[in-house]
Amino acid sequence: MGLSELPPPVEETPGQDLPNMSVRPPGPQSRTWLTRFTRCSAPMGPQFRSESIVKADVPSGSIVLSKSKGVNLLDVDNNRYVDLAAGFGSLLLGHQHPNILRAMELQSERLMQGLGDVYPSDAKIGLLEKLARLHPAPDAQVILAQSGADAVTAAIKTALLATGRSRLIAFRSSYHGLNYASLAVSDLRSGYKDPFRKHLPQDTTFLDYPATEEGLTNCQARLQVELAKGDVAALVFEPILGRGGVIVPPKDFVQVLRKETKKTGTLLIADEVWTGLGRSGEWLYSCKGSASAEDAPDLVCIGKGLGGGLPISACIGTHQVMAAWEQEDEVVHTSTFSGAPLACTTALATLDVLSRHSLLERSARVGAAFLERLREKLAGTVVREVRGAGLMVGLDLSQSRGGAGELMARLLRHGYVTSTGGGARDVLVLTPPLIISEELLLSFEDTLQLSILQMS
Ligand SMILES: Cc1ncc(COP(=O)(O)O)c(C=O)c1O
Repeated sequence: MGLSELPPPVEETPGQDLPNMSVRPPGPQSRTWLTRFTRCSAPMGPQFRSESIVKADVPSGSIVLSKSKGVNLLDVDNNRYVDLAAGFGSLLLGHQHPNILRAMELQSERLMQGLGDVYPSDAKIGLLEKLARLHPAPDAQVILAQSGADAVTAAIKTALLATGRSRLIAFRSSYHGLNYASLAVSDLRSGYKDPFRKHLPQDTTFLDYPATEEGLTNCQARLQVELAKGDVAALVFEPILGRGGVIVPPKDFVQVLRKETKKTGTLLIADEVWTGLGRSGEWLYSCKGSASAEDAPDLVCIGKGLGGGLPISACIGTHQVMAAWEQEDEVVHTSTFSGAPLACTTALATLDVLSRHSLLERSARVGAAFLERLREKLAGTVVREVRGAGLMVGLDLSQSRGGAGELMARLLRHGYVTSTGGGARDVLVLTPPLIISEELLLSFEDTLQLSILQMS
């Protein structure tokens, strides 16, 4: 048996069970672990301030996880949950997919760590070839990285090298990661940036992310003015605003960005860290329907689900743009674990399962039906809008103050793990594994409907 062995059919993937709650979360074991956690972990995030944890009510996120399988998560009190957050959208195949485990086993017996950019491994070369083919350009090339932020950094560095310019354009409420380069083009929450502003590059102009046709017209006009200055290296964008609240732009969004940036030699960087690899129902949402390489973004970043649970990401770009790395002085973007063989192998297994099981098509089909049912079932409730693409769904609760956080906590008590998004955390975000059974989604919808009615 090798890496090419057949993955189990989606219906037979282990770990598709309904919630089973033995105690109200956080149970006694979770509370004990959380007390230990707050003593030794730097206090980041509102739910981990020590005073929130001892409160009687469930602060969102305050459980301690111990095991998982497929779509199920277990906490230290043995509560079984259905995971509709899937590692912030990163577990496309669910937890511990048999083919990912097999890939890890085989590769860990062969080679776990290579020598980065000095001696590439066979696994790394195999992955580079596969990833290059995701871009519509026939001669695309790839930089491997370790996180979404790292891939975005690689793309920004490439754009600076290729254009010799330094200014960037990005969108309000966007999220590209928290290292300094990706933070400079992110705008989701001021807390992420404010304390570090003095160290961040200041050369980014932010435009409103267009949610409507009118928004797109305004965006185009603003873009023309900014680009006419001739100093913009790249425009960085999310094809669907993910953490900003799952906002799906008008269908001509990418074409407009492409047309305008081309006029001034500005590079177009699509951040597909969340949308890519089937999450939105497409390999790359920004290349959806791209007739030719000409229409595609110059650089595309992917991450999250690529490694099947292991940290690996990539920046894929045209040969012409990537050629900028060929300099006389040594100019590289790498790190000790970039392109580590183990993660390259799980990435190869992920790509294999995604295509063998047509999981992109499944994500588009199951996601469209899920969206339609949610729109129907939640009409007339506090949910203002249900939006999304594929299995990336946002419920807009902006008209109910604190509503998304409250709903997340209620759902947790019923055994469903979800997350929130939007600048004011007013959107409930659902990003289940692409292998989730339709029966589980239907059961969740009943619980969701009931929880929302109880809130209204
Ligand atoms: C669109 C997008 N880009 C980049 C990132 C950052 O990825 P990472 O957390 O792996 O650095 C995220 C994370 O949510 C994201 O949604």
